[in-house]
Amino acid sequence: MRILVTGAAGFIGSKLSERLLARGDEVLGYDNLNDYYDPRLKEARLARLMPLPGFSFLRASLEDRAALDAAFVDFKPQRVVNLAAQAGVRYSLENPHAYVESNIVGFMNILEACRHNGVDHLVYASSSSVYGNNRKLPFAVEDSVDHPVSMYAATKKANELMAHTYSHLFNLPTTGLRFFTVYGPWGRPDMALFLFTRKILAGEPIDVFNHGHHTRDFTYVDDIVEGVIRTLDQVPGPDPAYDPLAPSPATSSAPYRVYNIGNNRPVELLRYIEVLEECLGRKAEKRLLPLQPGDVPDTYADVDALQRDTGYSPSTPIETGVARFVEWYRDFYRA
Ligand SMILES: NC(=O)c1ccc[n+]([C@@H]2O[C@H](COP(=O)([O-])OP(=O)(O)OC[C@H]3O[C@@H](n4cnc5c(N)ncnc54)[C@H](O)[C@@H]3O)[C@@H](O)[C@H]2O)c1
Repeated sequence: MRILVTGAAGFIGSKLSERLLARGDEVLGYDNLNDYYDPRLKEARLARLMPLPGFSFLRASLEDRAALDAAFVDFKPQRVVNLAAQAGVRYSLENPHAYVESNIVGFMNILEACRHNGVDHLVYASSSSVYGNNRKLPFAVEDSVDHPVSMYAATKKANELMAHTYSHLFNLPTTGLRFFTVYGPWGRPDMALFLFTRKILAGEPIDVFNHGHHTRDFTYVDDIVEGVIRTLDQVPGPDPAYDPLAPSPATSSAPYRVYNIGNNRPVELLRYIEVLEECLGRKAEKRLLPLQPGDVPDTYADVDALQRDTGYSPSTPIETGVARFVEWYRDFYRA
């Protein structure tokens, strides 16, 4: 299949592209390599993909409609995975416009391009952050998600609403994936595992928010990618079980689905740090701080829907995943 992967130079997109190429798909990677974090890491991920047979790449922004439309017309993707987005909860308090540009304007362009170019399935990244102020755990796709606590979350929820509209109006099959705190080799420098590793190795203190007591359903990147591929291969149709008199937020009379992809095994932040300390063979100096605005105290994914529809749920324990991250980090940075 010909698959357009946006955000292909990113953490999850590069890993996904590698897996799709390995099974024989043709991949067009699309990414603007912006400097939200060190672009050299994005270039290094891309440098591994470039020699692989079946891979091509276009450096452009989702907001650049002419470039995006040309990519669709030239490459004629059968399926699209939209991972390009302005990520990060905390930065969305500082620069909300970046989120509207990439995640709203950019996503609108993706939807229009899919509509006009006969794409038979659009899979896109949503986020566990859409659960916002919900406190009922685990978070299930059947729960309402109307109380976001950051603009990042609000744009991801907006993506789900926009996707539903296109599934309904233009019969475009769409699947939204709510990823839960993804970590692993080639990970993002703005995320906790990367930040902590760098600081611990440099002998600097680490900032531990919510005094380390929040829990996260940390999900290993290979498990996320497996979930993306399984859902990508399964084009949704209208759900015959959908009841407009008691509408489930997870499904529809249109070809639309959303799934959680999480480990289904939340871990307290202090335990995550302990595992990292064991892998690094060093103790962290912890600066205990209150919960940050925009952050949620706990996340925990109910993955029943994913398991039911794809036969899969993530399972890598953090002890394995963090060790693999540390091995990659030491090798990549010669640390
Ligand atoms: N990593 C996580 O824990 C996590 C959790 C939930 C959701 N997500 C979502 O998954 C997706 C991938 O996340 P990631 O961790 O790989 O992030 P990432 O930042 O490493 O990857 C995103 C890539 O998209 C590119 N990009 C951003 N805006 C763009 C634009 N407007 N036009 C073209 N390219 C653009 C960036 O250069 C980057 O390479 C994102 O949509 C993110 O919001 C990630």
